[in-house]
Amino acid sequence: MRIWTASDHAGFPLKAHITRWLTAQGYEVIDIGTHSEESTDYPLWVHQLAQRFPPEEKAILICGTGNGVCMTANRYPQVRAALAWNSEVARLARAHNDANVLCLPGRFISTEEAEKAVRAFLSTPFEGGRHERRISQINPSQV
Ligand code: RB5
Repeated sequence: MRIWTASDHAGFPLKAHITRWLTAQGYEVIDIGTHSEESTDYPLWVHQLAQRFPPEEKAILICGTGNGVCMTANRYPQVRAALAWNSEVARLARAHNDANVLCLPGRFISTEEAEKAVRAFLSTPFEGGRHERRISQINPSQV
């Protein structure tokens, strides 16, 4: 399974950890960047990822709060990016929202909680049913 990752400087330490952690588990990780804690702008990295990202795959985006990367990613129609600060929110982002992108707040989540959130995100299937109808109404052009 391929996982795409990207972050700004504020998300870099957690992204580096999650990238290593996933690689050690056998995932193929495509780490778009950034590659250091030098100050940078989160949209640059999210656009680079989103322009190559196959929507049936999964991505993890990290900035300080998770909001900037999430807002940028959700400008792409093939992306459903969800901000999660614990594993239950990450699980529900898959089960109810069929999220293909997980956004994490690098400055506000522990490494342990982030690992749990990523594990939940990668292992939870979409429940479909009533949630299928709801996500089909997210795009304004579909209502
Ligand atoms: C960077 O200081 C910070 O603003 C950024 O990482 C993010 O939290 C924006 O949403």
